Amino acid sequence: MTEPQPLVVHITGARPNFPKAAPVIAALAEHPVRQLLVHTGQHYDERMSEVFFRQLGLPEPDVNLGVGSGSHGAQTAAIMVGLEELFTAERPDLVVVYGDVNSTVAAALVAAKMLIPLAHVEAGLRSFDMTMPEEVNRLVTDRLSDLLLVTSPDAIAHLGNEGVHPDRIHLVGNPMIDTLLRHVEGLDTVGVADQVGLDRTEPYVVATLHRPGNVDDPADVAELVRAVHAVADQVRVVIPLHPRGRGRLEAAGFMDHENLLVVDPLGYVEFLGLVKGSVAVVTDSGGVQEETTVMGVPCLTLRPNTERPVTITHGTNRLVTRDSLPGAVTEVLAAGRAEPGSTPVPPLWDGHAGPRIAAVLARSLGL
Ligand code: UD1
Ligand code: UDP
Repeated sequence: MTEPQPLVVHITGARPNFPKAAPVIAALAEHPVRQLLVHTGQHYDERMSEVFFRQLGLPEPDVNLGVGSGSHGAQTAAIMVGLEELFTAERPDLVVVYGDVNSTVAAALVAAKMLIPLAHVEAGLRSFDMTMPEEVNRLVTDRLSDLLLVTSPDAIAHLGNEGVHPDRIHLVGNPMIDTLLRHVEGLDTVGVADQVGLDRTEPYVVATLHRPGNVDDPADVAELVRAVHAVADQVRVVIPLHPRGRGRLEAAGFMDHENLLVVDPLGYVEFLGLVKGSVAVVTDSGGVQEETTVMGVPCLTLRPNTERPVTITHGTNRLVTRDSLPGAVTEVLAAGRAEPGSTPVPPLWDGHAGPRIAAVLARSLGL
């Protein structure tokens, strides 16, 4: 009788997980393993979830836990309960988690308690800001992981400082960039400009905002509205607005500026098409800092810190405050976009992270 192939379970749930998981799942299909894709249901709107499965060629999730939104405790607990049942039934040989969202840490906790080997894709990033829920998720997930797959050299140093044995750390590059590089040539910048209602000839800035530090507290929201309006005084701004904070932004008069175009969240190819054609991006997203770096689009990150400093040292990113944002936009508009290919890109962000990760996972399974 032949041995059954080992079972690898991938945990996804929130928007940024999908472009990270897609190249890993595709590359692992070349190895003799069975794969099971779990969607926790943390994100569930068509534009926050399903559109990525269609556009990125991800397989349909084998399981959707359908947990939906909730407080951190309620959401994390619901995911843990669902995964414990699933892992008890399926007995995975390896669980793979992505990034730093609640679905990531919930799965890590369950796998660790059930003594199931755990691999963390995008390990070792640190903002050193414990007010960010993601930083808590990163620390706990990394502490529990057997395989730490890192996207940048600074992450190796952080894990080393935390006592992780070097044998468990693998610098593999950035799978989110594999997905970007697969799509970037085909992005339709003009089509998406038309679709969202931009005039094709006018320069525009793309903004995305969803961090609790910007959109949860009404005092922060009021400052944010002033800062973004001061940008819209200078240049057309288009914002595919994340559902978090939409109500608070609306109530604070965010939408009341004629040069500000607020649209629903966009699909992956539409969003990146918009970014590709923009003069600059203003964001508090993690992934968008990385994508703009590779696309050579100036990125102004509206946060006091970043867990992705490599996008500053080897990319186009710059941290700004709500006060300094309007002036930073003036400078970026004056400087214009750099020549394509002239800005640096971090090491191994080359489109081949997926196969490297798959090779590490397969080796860990004795294949
Ligand atoms: C989560 C992640 C964050 C990540 C972001 C990516 C955590 C702790 N946070 O933040 O790290 O940057 O996803 O987008 O995991 N909502 C909808 N429709 C949806 C999903 C959410 O309307 O499909 C609304 C709900 O009101 C919900 C709120 O957005 O309460 C927040 O959703 P949640 O998943 O808790 O956190 P995010 O802010 O999306
Ligand atoms: N994104 C998208 N549509 C949008 C905004 C973002 O497809 O309207 C993509 C973006 O290109 C990146 C991912 O969503 O691939 C980042 O997710 P998000 O900013 O929600 O999360 P973070 O990276 O901050 O955790």
